[in-house]
Amino acid sequence: YLNYCVPRTRKEIFETLVKGLRRLEYRGYDSAGIAVDGDKKTTTEDNSKIVLIKKKGKVKALDEELYKKDCMDLEVELDTHFGIAHTRWATHGEPSALNSHPQRSDKNNAFVVIHNGIITNYKELKKYLNSKGYEFESETDTEVIPKLIKYVYDNREREDLSFSTLVERVIQQLEGAFALVFKSHYFPGEAVATRRGSPLLIGVRSKYELSAEHIPIQYNSGLFKEGVQDKNSHNRPDKPDNSTAVNSAGDGKAVEYYFASDASAIIEHTNKVIYLEDDDIAAVVGGKLSLHRLNSLAGENPVRAIQTLQMELQEIMKGNFEAFMQKEIFEQPESVFNTMRGRICFHTNKVILGGLKDHLKEIKRCRRLIVIGCGTSFHAAVATRQILEELTELPVMVELASDFLDRNTPVFRDDVCFYISQSGETADTLMALRYCKDRGALTVGVTNTVGSSISRDTDCGVHINAGPEIGVASTKAYTSQFVALIMFGLMMSEDRISLQPRRLEIINGLRILPDMIKKVLTLDNKIKSIADELYQQKSLLVMGRGFNYATCLEGALKIKEITYMHSEGILAGELKHGPLALIDKHMPVIMIIMKDACYTKCQNALQQVTARSGRPIILCCQDDQEMSKNAYKTIELPHTVDCLQGILSVIPLQLLSFHLAVLRGYDVDCPRNLAKSVTVE
Ligand code: F6R
Repeated sequence: YLNYCVPRTRKEIFETLVKGLRRLEYRGYDSAGIAVDGDKKTTTEDNSKIVLIKKKGKVKALDEELYKKDCMDLEVELDTHFGIAHTRWATHGEPSALNSHPQRSDKNNAFVVIHNGIITNYKELKKYLNSKGYEFESETDTEVIPKLIKYVYDNREREDLSFSTLVERVIQQLEGAFALVFKSHYFPGEAVATRRGSPLLIGVRSKYELSAEHIPIQYNSGLFKEGVQDKNSHNRPDKPDNSTAVNSAGDGKAVEYYFASDASAIIEHTNKVIYLEDDDIAAVVGGKLSLHRLNSLAGENPVRAIQTLQMELQEIMKGNFEAFMQKEIFEQPESVFNTMRGRICFHTNKVILGGLKDHLKEIKRCRRLIVIGCGTSFHAAVATRQILEELTELPVMVELASDFLDRNTPVFRDDVCFYISQSGETADTLMALRYCKDRGALTVGVTNTVGSSISRDTDCGVHINAGPEIGVASTKAYTSQFVALIMFGLMMSEDRISLQPRRLEIINGLRILPDMIKKVLTLDNKIKSIADELYQQKSLLVMGRGFNYATCLEGALKIKEITYMHSEGILAGELKHGPLALIDKHMPVIMIIMKDACYTKCQNALQQVTARSGRPIILCCQDDQEMSKNAYKTIELPHTVDCLQGILSVIPLQLLSFHLAVLRGYDVDCPRNLAKSVTVE
């Protein structure tokens, strides 16, 4: 966060940085740190000009620590100041204050750096720097970066290198993924940020209430344009649009800059943002933002849009709910509606996904569809595979991104590959995207994050428009991904006369889906009472088949990730082939038995479970007397079209996992060992 000619007290600076970290805590939360300029009162062990404060634990622990530093004058007003902060999720080195960021160049904190991503050649760099006498204090890969910039600085000879040139030289040596922000006591009031493979954006706020001309940016390279984020299209901020070019704004006027890996960290300060591209280097000097590209070629003239974000702060606040996850579960009637909004015409039964329509012909000609994702996003692919096969009449492969890459799966030019990702930043999914792109396949993103790497790097795509998802356990993104994939199937089948009755049935089901979800949510109290009975158990099995198999996988994932209970999603057809051995009167079992083509087969599975004294809790259709007779308990759901039933059947399991986690005393939004956005392999 950099304030230029905008007086801020140190307390305000702390608050801005800490608030930003809190909004990003979902990305990782095992330790946090901050770097600000010291003042005359500042007495650190080594008398450095930059003060580093780092703490193991959540952002709250760091926040408390800041106010213990009675050596820092909190009320002092700083006319221009640059402070950086970071919340970490450990990849190299255990969670500890020392391993948290900012990492520093030396005891004097000459250069301090915050980093998201992984430096894969850090061992070689460390060895080299060690040989030059640089001593390392942490176990992180990141620490090579501040040491390296110090090394370049110390060896600059007579060259007068700017801060951004130093950074440019450093990133030439780095391999792996990074979003980096640098601060240095040699360059007070200056900031440099850059990225490769990890997201980074810059928010700009000026007292002139930003018409673009008032943003003091150097436009000499023609890098910036102004545009408005279009929620419905898979927009490409980097592509020129019809918006006005921004003029030079002369000298730096009062302005504040926010560098962040996600817009949610800064949205309460400004909605004007610039998304950086790989190898962009952004620098603020004298209050002016300038940008250049690593190794840029003469004549290269890329355009970066200044976007106006449509996101509202209240969209990312918890409101009256106990946890973001709970809020997001209850938001599903609206989030699912927003996924469909403006895309389905219920009069003409037409479905138009703006981000795909120009590629539809090409998609229809393809050899097969490959749908790739991780975790919950993968489950959305499993959930919709059968209906996609039916509506597109194409073979559909569903793939876990990591496994897809491990197998070096053959991919051809006439394949169409879908990347499902809430964050749009998941490293495995992103790598699978690059793998398929290299082989010439058409790539389609299905993400919830405008401007994310996956939405930018794919040829075309769909934004699911579920709104920001903060709880680590994904809920509303799943149901919206589900709906988005079904809409794709409907769009593909528009010309198939034989499929019209089926399409109509599904479109009618989608029309009333938000109301159906509302009905399911009224079961919350009943589900809470089931959680009261189950929360001390060690295990919980979830069983089903056909259209509801994905619900079993997804329900079990929700349970294990936030309640830490053992849970397995079991395909009921596989029961006899092993899992039946787990069943006895003590083992809690949830069975999903809906009135669809698998109903009779599911009844067989039920017989097998009850014959072994199992006491199943059955998720079934309303008024299914047969189920009530055989169940220990039933959770009755409104009946909808078979291929949409999974949207309704997953909600009780989302609620159940939430209540179980609360009863077991766990932090629902921040489960141990997990992060919201997995930007490392
Ligand atoms: C589970 C969960 C994860 C994510 C997975 C992929 O609740 O959230 O399994 O679904 O890490 O993340 P995205 O969808 O951001 O690619």
